[in-house]
Amino acid sequence: MQDTKTRYGFLSRLLHWGMAFLITWQFMKFFDRINEGEHWIGENLASWHVSIGSLILLFILFRLFWAIKQKNKRPQPDAASRIAVKAGHGLLYLGMLVLPITGVMIMIGKGYGLDPFGIELVAGSENEIAWMAAIGSIHSLIAWALLILVAGHIAMALYHRFVKKDDVMQRML
Ligand code: HEM
Ligand code: HEM
Repeated sequence: MQDTKTRYGFLSRLLHWGMAFLITWQFMKFFDRINEGEHWIGENLASWHVSIGSLILLFILFRLFWAIKQKNKRPQPDAASRIAVKAGHGLLYLGMLVLPITGVMIMIGKGYGLDPFGIELVAGSENEIAWMAAIGSIHSLIAWALLILVAGHIAMALYHRFVKKDDVMQRML
């Protein structure tokens, strides 16, 4: 269950790959730009956006707590790349936290209400909350930033696996 210096433990790997899957699913929302979402992806995958996003908000809070608890036990980057790796992973965490928060702000700010998986947490309202909707409007920009960050992250993982041929990929598998 716990991480070690040579390998991420079961819970860290479950959170990493489970959330990687859910975040990839969330990115399908970009396809709403095609034909206003009226196609298979828009109707079957992107239609879960608010529910899956709300789930991600719960998971990231737990993952942050878990990362702090495992801080001194997990695999550490080597000295040369330490700052870049910490910054990269830190930004991934920031993206995973700010995206669901701004998403919720769009829904409440614009008066749509919030009902993940049909559970009404905030009722829809006639009144918009302008400041909330304004902050929420950075959601799309952050989604693009996270997409680029994730692409770089995957490229680095593959670089370690196939070019440097070290154990960086192995410790997350
Ligand atoms: C990690 C979680 C999330 C990711 C990766 C994500 C990603 C995205 C992406 C890629 C788009 C399309 C943006 C574009 O076409 O430019 C989008 C739009 C949207 N998302 Fe999310 N989202 C997340 C969480 C949430 C949550 C929790 C909510 C609501 C509770 C939400 C509400 C919305 C709404 C209303 C839109 C359409 C409005 C807009 O494009 O600004 N999202 N999201
Ligand atoms: C195919 C997709 C992915 C691959 C191959 C991959 C691979 C890896 C590997 C090998 C590590 C260990 C790096 C190290 O120990 O230095 C790692 C860590 C990490 N990855 Fe990914 N990853 C993927 C997707 C994602 C996504 C979508 C996110 C979040 C948006 C993410 C966030 C993180 C974070 C924050 C860490 C640091 C460890 C932790 O706190 O869990 N990864 N990843």
